[in-house]
Amino acid sequence: MGGGKIGEALVSGLVRRPGAASSIAVVERSPERAAQLEQRYGVRALDLAGAAATSRVLLLAVKPQDVDALLGLLAPHVDGDHLVVSVAAGVPTARIEALLPAGTPVVRVMPNTPALVDEGMSVLSAGAHATEAHLDEAEALLSAVGQVRRVPESQQDAVTALSGSGPAYFFFLVEAMIDAGILLGLPRTLAADLIVQTALGAATMLRDSGEHPVQLREAVTSPGGTTIAAIRELERHGVRAALIAAIEAAHDRSVELGR
Ligand SMILES: NC(=O)c1ccc[n+]([C@@H]2O[C@H](COP(=O)([O-])OP(=O)(O)OC[C@H]3O[C@@H](n4cnc5c(N)ncnc54)[C@H](OP(=O)(O)O)[C@@H]3O)[C@@H](O)[C@H]2O)c1
Repeated sequence: MGGGKIGEALVSGLVRRPGAASSIAVVERSPERAAQLEQRYGVRALDLAGAAATSRVLLLAVKPQDVDALLGLLAPHVDGDHLVVSVAAGVPTARIEALLPAGTPVVRVMPNTPALVDEGMSVLSAGAHATEAHLDEAEALLSAVGQVRRVPESQQDAVTALSGSGPAYFFFLVEAMIDAGILLGLPRTLAADLIVQTALGAATMLRDSGEHPVQLREAVTSPGGTTIAAIRELERHGVRAALIAAIEAAHDRSVELGR
């Protein structure tokens, strides 16, 4: 329900599973967009009643401000067999449950934009009526576009600040590093190539080596060398403290928006 950026990313990941396209329906407000998704992925476009009648798992992927209206239309079609999985940022399971028939299982998910390239980080929380089996079902769905973790819902504001907003911090860092290349006289495209590949290489080492970031950093920091000169400047400018404060601010804003 909602075939926008995140909805499409999920559909595109799911249809790669053999035979999956015929079991997926999209509910989309714009008929042109619905037709585009049907044609692109071989899924069916249905209305809410049709989707609820043929699907047990209902994925809510509309903007947070559209959630209440959609749930109002969906509620009459929801019965005891449905599982509702919501990726709407900051919308608590209690609010979704309150708009659906009593006892409806709801799983809340915080995804992030790298889901668009199948490298997403999705973090799940169970609502009041969702069981481990429901979380397993939601995990199977989200694992089509990246990795999945589970947390108690009380930790979702911290998750939003870390992995939800996280891609933006890395983009910001990359921007600044490219600017440094420009300052040092490199062409912009070359500076961008150097930094993007370095980011990808560093991220792959972090994920695959099993080593702590400190160990990986020490391995490129030789005595009296270039890296330690740079690290001293990062520490002098309080970059570590700035990142901690920035992520804390994102958390606080998430709490505020949730209210
Ligand atoms: N994009 C991200 O990086 C990201 C990350 C984490 C979480 N999320 C969450 O994912 C959700 C979707 O985000 P998005 O970026 O994919 O938004 P989006 O691109 O705007 O997609 C939402 C889609 O749902 C459609 N829609 C709205 N109300 C509907 C209704 N009643 N029935 C059927 N379709 C309806 C919208 O149509 P119209 O265009 O006509 O309104 C739009 O095509 C949001 O709640 C967001 O918080 C997104």
